[in-house]
Amino acid sequence: MILVGPADEFNRNLASKMSIPIIDLQRRVFPDGEVCPRIMIEREDQLRGEEVILSMRMPSKSCNPNSYLVEVLLAVRNLREHIRASNIQVIMPYFPYARQDNIFRPGEPLSAKYVANLLEEAGVETVYAVTVHLHRVGSFPGLFQRARGVNISGFPSLAEVLKRMDLVNPYIIAPDEEALVWAKEVAECLGTEDYVAFIKERDVETGEIRTTIKEIDVRGRDAVVVDDIVSTGGTMANAVRAVREMGARKVYSAFVHPVLVGNALDRIIGAGANEIIASDTLIWEGSKASVVDQLVEEIKGR
Ligand code: R5P
Repeated sequence: MILVGPADEFNRNLASKMSIPIIDLQRRVFPDGEVCPRIMIEREDQLRGEEVILSMRMPSKSCNPNSYLVEVLLAVRNLREHIRASNIQVIMPYFPYARQDNIFRPGEPLSAKYVANLLEEAGVETVYAVTVHLHRVGSFPGLFQRARGVNISGFPSLAEVLKRMDLVNPYIIAPDEEALVWAKEVAECLGTEDYVAFIKERDVETGEIRTTIKEIDVRGRDAVVVDDIVSTGGTMANAVRAVREMGARKVYSAFVHPVLVGNALDRIIGAGANEIIASDTLIWEGSKASVVDQLVEEIKGR
């Protein structure tokens, strides 16, 4: 088995923990925005018949899910058709388009499923992803027709970091009801039974977010607001502000995927977060938690 992907710390770590070699992938972008992922093989037949794991992460902040998806699709197709690798597995820690897991309004695409289908058509046999945002379609494996989808939770990696922070009587807060399951997961890891979900409504036309809080007694306690994705930061900032106003001692903002569009980070800090804890599912220099060990465990276990 060989790992193919940008030879950054994440992938070098992954390859080293799996004791497999790594072949670099260069992410070239042409001036007009077209992408050209080049697998740095020295001979045309170097990977012929080899089992390959392609590992690519989307850059945070400047991220472009469309470019990322096309890069992965082109690399997979190249591995299958020209390079002729075998059993192509893909690590996409942040699975793009997952939030469109429903036809919310007539005429919209069921993007999460179509993206899964595009990957299968390109030649993927297994997709490993972390905390895939699916609430309306049953499960990640259920998106695929032939390929295997493996969904790994990113919350234990966040909890590991939180555990080392000597939190004072922590209270775990989900900024919306969908995140309650993750708040519970983190609460269990931290050994507390105190977790709660606020209620969020998002206008599907304008994207505007309204959060209805639940009054909780967090005075003198540390609050941890957990979510899967921070995109514009609106959801997280509303919840952080609310617990800060309710008198929390410190407020931690913990999330798996630091998509961080525009001034998302400033919004969360401006709302009163003392510390941001995010994982490395996207390329972001501020990540404090890593999902590498869980990925290795999952892949080795199969
Ligand atoms: C959606 O329900 C997700 O779990 C996140 O809460 C959402 O994607 C965050 O988006 P934003 O940062 O733009 O508020």
